[in-house]
Amino acid sequence: MAVLITGGAGYIGSHAMVEFLNADKDIVCVDNLCNSKAMALDRVRQITGKDFKFYQVDLLDIDKLENVFKENKIDSCIHFAGLKAVGESCEKPLLYYHNNITGTLNLCKLLSKYGAKKIVFSSSATVYGKPASVPITEDFPLSTTNPYGETKLMIERILKDLWVSDNEWSVSILRYFNPIGAHKSGLIGEDPRDIPNNLLPYITQVASGRREFLSVHGNDYNTHDGTGVRDYIHVVDLAKAHLCAIERANKQTGVEYFNIGTGVGYSVLDIVKAYEEATGAKVNYKIGPRRPGDIDECYANPEKAYKILGWKAENGIEDMCKDAFNWQKKNPNGYEE
Ligand code: NAD
Ligand code: UFG
Repeated sequence: MAVLITGGAGYIGSHAMVEFLNADKDIVCVDNLCNSKAMALDRVRQITGKDFKFYQVDLLDIDKLENVFKENKIDSCIHFAGLKAVGESCEKPLLYYHNNITGTLNLCKLLSKYGAKKIVFSSSATVYGKPASVPITEDFPLSTTNPYGETKLMIERILKDLWVSDNEWSVSILRYFNPIGAHKSGLIGEDPRDIPNNLLPYITQVASGRREFLSVHGNDYNTHDGTGVRDYIHVVDLAKAHLCAIERANKQTGVEYFNIGTGVGYSVLDIVKAYEEATGAKVNYKIGPRRPGDIDECYANPEKAYKILGWKAENGIEDMCKDAFNWQKKNPNGYEE
């Protein structure tokens, strides 16, 4: 029996594929490569020395997706595939709703039809909106501020309704905080298409001389140094959480929600300093205006994931920075030849 990994060529998916292969799981990967490159999959093979089937299929194409189910014995799914850029989702809401929601509906129809009623879904801390306090626990009120976040919240609700209608389902909703870093080998990592939106890929490009300086988006937030505070988590730790979630799904049904973070908040300036210390590189920055929609502080209480899944983050901020830098040094243009 195989685990279907949607979006396995992407940043988090490729790291999860490595962990699943290292744990001797049978996997089948589906990705339309709209935001990734096939080379990431070659690198996964190189790291693990193991092979797997890959289908370049769009989740929106239900017939082609069904072929994957016909040709393989799928019994569960890790669902990473989706579009994830907050700004783009505000410009192109229909694209985001269609891709993320319809893609998930197609997937769930087939998982149901083929009796593979176990899904681990990539949700996000964005579903907590502007939290009233920190650290955030899973029972905090939910709200969103952009179409991307709406798709995450809607999919969470769809998956819950699915379970309510059919208790054979096992649904694990993993709410990721801020994934950063890369595999220790430096063979896989985050490869943003254009100018990076997120902090770490931007810092990495400044440190390597590809960009002149980091613009710090505001220093008048209600935090220890005025810059935004987030819970950064090493992508390999995050990848491992999926293995723990699927092991649990194999044992029991239900819907469960887990924060996947470290429980520690770092400000933008803390990260700049940590990056410089960990790598010896200089990160030039200038204080700029606030970015619309940003919140002061967001970090997890990750105890539930530890208690129930037996998962906790192992890498600290130094490893996250070092590994991001190592990936950038070895692949200055990402997966471009
Ligand atoms: P990514 O863009 O690197 O990976 C997503 C993959 O899905 C890509 O390879 C893309 O080609 C594929 N994809 C998108 N739409 C598809 C479709 N219709 N059919 C088939 N494949 C499709 O993103 P990531 O950072 O690896 O994120 C993975 C998941 O985790 C996403 O659902 C994302 O929303 C969620 N998430 C990411 C973050 C983050 O900061 N990276 C935070 C919280 C949640
Ligand atoms: N920041 C800067 N300069 C930059 C980029 C970011 O100062 O060039 C700051 C932001 O203002 C924020 C912090 O760095 O204070 C982190 O910003 P990111 O864009 O890296 O991450 P966000 O917390 O804004 O959002 C990310 C994902 C969302 C996801 C959320 C929670 O982009 O999709 O984490 O998982 F929902």
